[in-house]
Amino acid sequence: MERTLALIKPDATAKHLEGAIISRIQESGLRVVAMKRLRLSAEQAKAFYHVHAERPFFGDLVAFMTEGPIVAMVLEAEGAIAKWRDLMGPTDATKAPKGTIRGDFGTNIERNACHGSDAPETAAFEVGFFFSGLELSGL
Ligand code: RTP
Ligand code: MG
Repeated sequence: MERTLALIKPDATAKHLEGAIISRIQESGLRVVAMKRLRLSAEQAKAFYHVHAERPFFGDLVAFMTEGPIVAMVLEAEGAIAKWRDLMGPTDATKAPKGTIRGDFGTNIERNACHGSDAPETAAFEVGFFFSGLELSGL
């Protein structure tokens, strides 16, 4: 079994899309093993996206990710990382196919409704960023 970190981003919580997105996750066979709603500080958003610190869009990304609440989840399935990224669709919501979460609910390359870890190493870091061992045990 593999675990991945999913975020429902501030553009989606502002549009009250949490329920719709969680329904798609559950219908796809991904199991929600942990979940919380919170608002990131700028320091926390910078730390979470530290791999993008040198990118030109970093400042905009931090502003976006802190503009409102997010929902963080740990999802579990065989091949959970790829499964969740397939369900989200490509980064740029204007190019994401209809039927994907970003295609249906995202706006553009930045305001794209959701996040998913991209590899086992990043998933381990990102799950640990939001959830403690205690919150992940016995689930
Ligand atoms: P994520 O990490 O959020 O799941 O998205 P991703 O892997 O598909 O995309 P990534 O390259 O990791 O970029 C992280 C997030 O930064 C914003 N972004 N803005 N303005 C831009 O050109 C640009 N490019 C990326 C998006 O919110 C993207 O999800
Ligand atoms: Mg990424």
